[in-house]
Amino acid sequence: MNTAPLLIFGAGAIGTAMAQAAFARPDAPPVHVVTRGMAPEGCTPHQIDPGDEAALATLAQTLPEISGLLITTGTLHTAGYAPEKSLKALDPAAMAEIYRINTILPATILKHFLPRLPRKAPAFAAALSARVGSISDNALGGWVSYRASKAALNQVIRTFSVELARTHPKARLLGLHPGTVATPLSAPYRANAPRVFTAAESAAHLWRVVETTTPEDSGKLFAWDGQEIAP
Ligand SMILES: NC(=O)c1ccc[n+]([C@@H]2O[C@H](COP(=O)([O-])OP(=O)(O)OC[C@H]3O[C@@H](n4cnc5c(N)ncnc54)[C@H](OP(=O)(O)O)[C@@H]3O)[C@@H](O)[C@H]2O)c1
Repeated sequence: MNTAPLLIFGAGAIGTAMAQAAFARPDAPPVHVVTRGMAPEGCTPHQIDPGDEAALATLAQTLPEISGLLITTGTLHTAGYAPEKSLKALDPAAMAEIYRINTILPATILKHFLPRLPRKAPAFAAALSARVGSISDNALGGWVSYRASKAALNQVIRTFSVELARTHPKARLLGLHPGTVATPLSAPYRANAPRVFTAAESAAHLWRVVETTTPEDSGKLFAWDGQEIAP
């Protein structure tokens, strides 16, 4: 068993549920959670804003090896921004901020922590993306900043997976779609969703997906039910 820590970024609803599911297991490695706020009980907390790259670099030095990396951060709406319903709603500054949070922060986290996965043992890294980031699946339009930021995240995952395969051939880097989950992020937008999971249900699904994937799956986006989502 690899007792190097599992590192989770984000203590939002799904991040907390995934951390709790991880450390409830009898064979769980130590779980470290990076958050700007409060980390769930039972884990080692790191109060860091992932936008602070120097702090990420310092943390990476204190954790020479991790057994897994899970990025659960992301946003759909902020105090000054709601997902666009039309072309004319686009605000370039708001779009840049959504890109920063949903694409650039995960990319920067991967830059510092993918090298901390073991080179010779099986390991995983995963980031929460979204089905709406699939370009081929986009029949509805709207939500351009969120969609584009998640499509770009999927491309980051694909790009880094190619490099990871060279240095860490037993590792996999995945994008994960959690389904529609009852969290603050989805609260204003889930009224018409055909199916809504609790965070704990989604976390159980996502851990199953992580555990059943192999290095051949690296670079791909998977939904909560294990189905691959086309780019
Ligand atoms: N809920 C859904 O239905 C749904 C559907 C599809 C995809 N997703 C994806 O799942 C992920 C988690 O969503 P959730 O529903 O658990 O949302 P949530 O409860 O609102 O949690 C959001 C997380 O993102 C982090 N975050 C938000 N703004 C940030 C910022 N400016 N800088 C740094 N970190 C920031 C928070 O970090 P702190 O821990 O530091 O507060 C928190 O961990 C997101 O990537 C989302 O796009 C969710």
